[in-house]
Amino acid sequence: MTRTLITGGAGFIGSHACVEFVQTGQEVVVLDNLSNASLRSIHAVERITQKNIPFVEGDIRDADVLGKLFHDHEIDSVIHFAGLKAVGESVEQPLKYFDNNVNGTLRLIEAMTNAGVKTIVFSSSATVYGTPEHCPISESAPTGAVNPYGRSKLMVEQMLQDLFASDPAWRISLLRYFNPVGAHASGEIGEDPNGIPNNLMPYISQVAIGKLPFLRVFGDDYPTPDGTGIRDYIHVVDLARAHVQALKFLRREPRIAIHNLGTGQGYSVLDVLKAFETACGRKLPFEITDRRSGDVAESYADPTKANCELEWRAEFGIEKMCADSWRWQSSHPEGFAD
Ligand code: NAD
Ligand code: WQD
Repeated sequence: MTRTLITGGAGFIGSHACVEFVQTGQEVVVLDNLSNASLRSIHAVERITQKNIPFVEGDIRDADVLGKLFHDHEIDSVIHFAGLKAVGESVEQPLKYFDNNVNGTLRLIEAMTNAGVKTIVFSSSATVYGTPEHCPISESAPTGAVNPYGRSKLMVEQMLQDLFASDPAWRISLLRYFNPVGAHASGEIGEDPNGIPNNLMPYISQVAIGKLPFLRVFGDDYPTPDGTGIRDYIHVVDLARAHVQALKFLRREPRIAIHNLGTGQGYSVLDVLKAFETACGRKLPFEITDRRSGDVAESYADPTKANCELEWRAEFGIEKMCADSWRWQSSHPEGFAD
């Protein structure tokens, strides 16, 4: 039976994707170097699905590991999550990001080419839109990343576009995620950031559990209804399901395609805080501070293309995103270390 290779499958989004692929009756094999994940997430996926998940610890830049993987398993497609994602770190260590994200993907594509596997779904990001001219953002909006992380995503998109132009036998899905949050409803898997979180939802979760004293709201003077930044938060399970649909789409339509993955609904920082207070049942302390450099006032998707072409729609709202994040955080205060 053919399998889908899931790179970065031990990570936040990848582990949720593993669950959805297995629960829709598909065979997977996971490759992850565990640089930002724990093997415990794979064990949790096994508990949720009641299935054994074949796992290889290794790096996408390692040709030997990839060669063996494609030799040992009958792989027909790749869902490519493996990569680094911290914007601030990418500014401090840009070469680390170009090596891992761009060179890593190049090595993966070479191994796929050697194995005759030409179907790939790539984790891109709404960050490729840089400072959007207007919202909602459609796939035809101009791109222009504003940091090395974003540029690494854009470079991979361009590399894959050029690859397709040179060989139309490839089937390539470029998925631009907006702001993934939430956790699996079982409370068994979720986001487990190292150190102090950079992103809003894990930061609020750690305030709620008492690990951090208060939330810093980065600016309340944006041209938005309450002055705080607006984003399109999307439940990670909705996001994971979009990957199942993207692979089905590529099997139907052999081409390259770009899709935005968001709900189309924007929420402000204070909206999210309020929804999380409802989820955890108490008021959470916050302070308004200066804007964070590089932040845009608002970013939310026009998800119409994904809704139509992928036959997919985000189902879960902000209440469930917060409730599931809270269930994960409160049952695993130390993440997978618990
Ligand atoms: P994550 O860090 O939880 O998952 C990435 C996984 O890849 C980790 O398990 C890590 O150990 C693994 N990995 C990293 N480099 C590797 C390498 N060279 N070889 C093998 N494994 C490697 O991050 P995530 O939030 O699950 O993100 C998954 C993908 O989605 C990333 O490519 C990220 O850039 C992209 N993305 C994430 C977000 C977000 O906000 N979470 C938004 C847009 C796009
Ligand atoms: C959301 C809102 C902040 C933290 C980042 C990456 C992007 C993508 C997703 C990978 C903003 C505000 C945040 C805090 C706050 N990742 N905020 N206090 O910046 O939209 O996107 O993650 O591709 O590339 O840039 O997400 O969760 O950091 O911020 O007020 O402590 O919350 O200003 O308005 P962002 P975020």
